[in-house]
Amino acid sequence: MSIRWLVCGFVMALVFSACSGGDSDSGDGGGGPAVDDDSVDDDVATDDDSATDDDSADDDEADDDTWPPLPDDDIDDDSDDDTGDDDSVPVECEASIVREPYLQWVTTDSVRVRWRTDEPGYSLVRWGVEDRAEETMLSNDLVRKHEMVITGLDPRTVYPYRVESCGVESTTEDFITAPDDPSEPFTFAVWGDTQDNPDIHEQVAAAAYDWDPDFALHVGDLVGSGWRPGDYDNEFFGPAKQFLQSTPFFPAMGNHDGNSPFYFDSFYQPGSWGYYSFTYGNTFFVALNTTWIYIPGSEQYRWFVDQLESDAARDADWIIVYAHHPPYSEGWVGYDGEPMVRMFLVPLFEEYGVDIYFSGHTHNYERGTKNGVTYIISGGGGGGLDTWARDYDHVEVWAGVHHFTGVTVDGPTIDIEAWDIDDNLVDSYQITK
Ligand SMILES: [Fe+2]
Repeated sequence: MSIRWLVCGFVMALVFSACSGGDSDSGDGGGGPAVDDDSVDDDVATDDDSATDDDSADDDEADDDTWPPLPDDDIDDDSDDDTGDDDSVPVECEASIVREPYLQWVTTDSVRVRWRTDEPGYSLVRWGVEDRAEETMLSNDLVRKHEMVITGLDPRTVYPYRVESCGVESTTEDFITAPDDPSEPFTFAVWGDTQDNPDIHEQVAAAAYDWDPDFALHVGDLVGSGWRPGDYDNEFFGPAKQFLQSTPFFPAMGNHDGNSPFYFDSFYQPGSWGYYSFTYGNTFFVALNTTWIYIPGSEQYRWFVDQLESDAARDADWIIVYAHHPPYSEGWVGYDGEPMVRMFLVPLFEEYGVDIYFSGHTHNYERGTKNGVTYIISGGGGGGLDTWARDYDHVEVWAGVHHFTGVTVDGPTIDIEAWDIDDNLVDSYQITK
């Protein structure tokens, strides 16, 4: 199995490399797919990455829109249908919400709210706090893919919000902004491999929702086939809608997502190829795309080294990296972990003091520490479970269960919990500096 994936990955890398024209003039992730997301309201959307690392991946949309092409049925030709100049009153339209609101790229003072409708409609978002009048933001551009960037928020504050298109409102959920004080504790959830079994993913997402993290990381394989229309709604957004509506999340690319335009079209992230970084509280996070090229000398490898040597990394108390493929795995017959991650990334983790590397790919929970780096596999989000296959000396915990991982960062201490869908505590572990 491992050889097959290695060969597939190598072939994919060659194909993508050829398609991207070997662009290497950008050190921060250029040359990738430009998803022509016409639905984004440029009059409203503002890039406010105040809580993010300035050295992180390029925020600019790539100019090369030749690959991968956006599926024809996903192109919103109605986005220029601005039906009026009066942005104080919604225009008349008729549409239903088909993808409930979900939150992206939360910072100390902003968040991105996205949702989708079956027909072009206006975008209206309402938010507020209990002691303050409700605020609204409206765009009368008629679109199916909606994105509103709420700015001017206060740090570490809970905001109830809901969206509306064509008179149809979502439910109200709330989110919390990032702290601006690095000493403030925060929580996040990790889940992955939510593919193929939406009924189980629904249970995992419900458990994570009950745990109520401030935000979440997804370690890839969100769906069974990233190139199959409908998978993202049927297997990812639908089963997890309440969790996603209240929890800003940061995804990493899995092999089943396959660098698909449906993936890039669904999630906001700086840069073009699915690797990016951000700072939250006292922690520097780096998402890598291990389904793309990361051999030494490659654009992603050089970008990753730059991130590890950045002021953001040096100033942070913790460095957490996450991606889809694990370097070591006990739970997959014929697969002992990703050889290229072991060869090329693990040495960087050890050299630059990465504290935790989260991954998925193997459908179970594993946790162990080797040469100062804690490796956690949290790949039990819905896909069929793998069975224990081998023993690594450093892996202390293995559990073949559907689960999510909850992480609490409190200054020099990180507490890790893994919970299965029957509310059993699978693992509890503390790291202290
Ligand atoms: Fe995978």
